[in-house]
Amino acid sequence: MTHQMLAATYAAEGPATVLSVHEIDRPGPGPGQVRVRIRVSAVNPTDVKGRAGLTPRPIDGLQVPHMDGAGVIDAVGEGVDPARIGERVWLMFAALGPWGTAAQWAVVPAEHAIGLADDASFDLGATLGVPAMTAAVCLFGGGSLAGRDVLVAGSGAVGHAAIQLARWAGARVVATVSGPQKAAIAERAGAHLVVNYRDPRAVQAIRDWSPGIDRVVEVALGPNLELDLAVCRRGATVVTYAIDGPDPVIPVRRCMGAGLSLRFMLLYSEPSPELAAAIRVVRAAVAAGALTMPPIIRFPLSQIVAAQLAQEAGPVGKILIDVPQ
Ligand SMILES: NC(=O)c1ccc[n+]([C@@H]2O[C@H](COP(=O)([O-])OP(=O)(O)OC[C@H]3O[C@@H](n4cnc5c(N)ncnc54)[C@H](OP(=O)(O)O)[C@@H]3O)[C@@H](O)[C@H]2O)c1
Repeated sequence: MTHQMLAATYAAEGPATVLSVHEIDRPGPGPGQVRVRIRVSAVNPTDVKGRAGLTPRPIDGLQVPHMDGAGVIDAVGEGVDPARIGERVWLMFAALGPWGTAAQWAVVPAEHAIGLADDASFDLGATLGVPAMTAAVCLFGGGSLAGRDVLVAGSGAVGHAAIQLARWAGARVVATVSGPQKAAIAERAGAHLVVNYRDPRAVQAIRDWSPGIDRVVEVALGPNLELDLAVCRRGATVVTYAIDGPDPVIPVRRCMGAGLSLRFMLLYSEPSPELAAAIRVVRAAVAAGALTMPPIIRFPLSQIVAAQLAQEAGPVGKILIDVPQ
């Protein structure tokens, strides 16, 4: 019996071509860890930024990329209930250690392998770790969303999950997008109103629809703050989870006048209780059938370089990687 596995790895940060797929020793779970036979791995912006060296994390000899994935636990380490062997799980934070999900097996702390409902697909499971968790942290924690008006900027992976989680929580949801393809995704996700943020009538369209937005899940604070200020009710909260350009200049007096709360979140620095609460939200939403897949763009593991380049190019949909079984 072989104790090898196929894995994508890189030994130094750099362009996507630092990645290669080859056989390496299959890891075993240490104390408190589980080993997961990966079915589907997912690519997130954080994975390509990490590989490119934009969010440096020390590499201990070799790194298997990708935080998110889904599969089945096939071994547990000391201190982990052996009854977990055979459990279908989705993974989060896998590539914070050496064993990301772009491989046939991954090893993660037991608490980062979370039970996946029997009727939920591995594809859906692979979209939960970063996108749905980020959406959940951004949306919840500020009281009930029932009857509230929520603006979700963008219908990318996080935006898609945010639209669905906000609807599931009883909010009315407006999504802002750049064009018809993204509009179709936001509509299918369940947004009540979809507005093109490049349209000069965007603010009016949102004002006609809502007396005042209560919460914004914001992907681009700099470009969107004027719109957010124009459509938010007094005391609203704008939660920013992304930065892809220079830091914006904040119009402090206008934000004060509007009583606007600006909140910033980074999943990796969220405290454990907040992460645990978000996991409960995501699991409940999956169990309720409230989360569905955005359009899927599939690659085999052998095309890891192409998959990461496609992520860098800004995909219209979610990039998944099929791992050989
Ligand atoms: N803080 C955290 O912990 C955390 C967690 C997850 C993700 N992130 C970051 O969040 C960003 C998005 O992640 P993702 O996985 O959702 O990526 P994605 O699937 O590529 O989606 C990004 C979306 O942002 C939209 N967008 C860009 N500018 C916009 C604007 N001015 N208004 C509205 N939408 C706009 C894009 O749509 P158009 O191209 O149509 O504009 C695209 O749909 C990445 O930078 C990622 O690194 C951070």
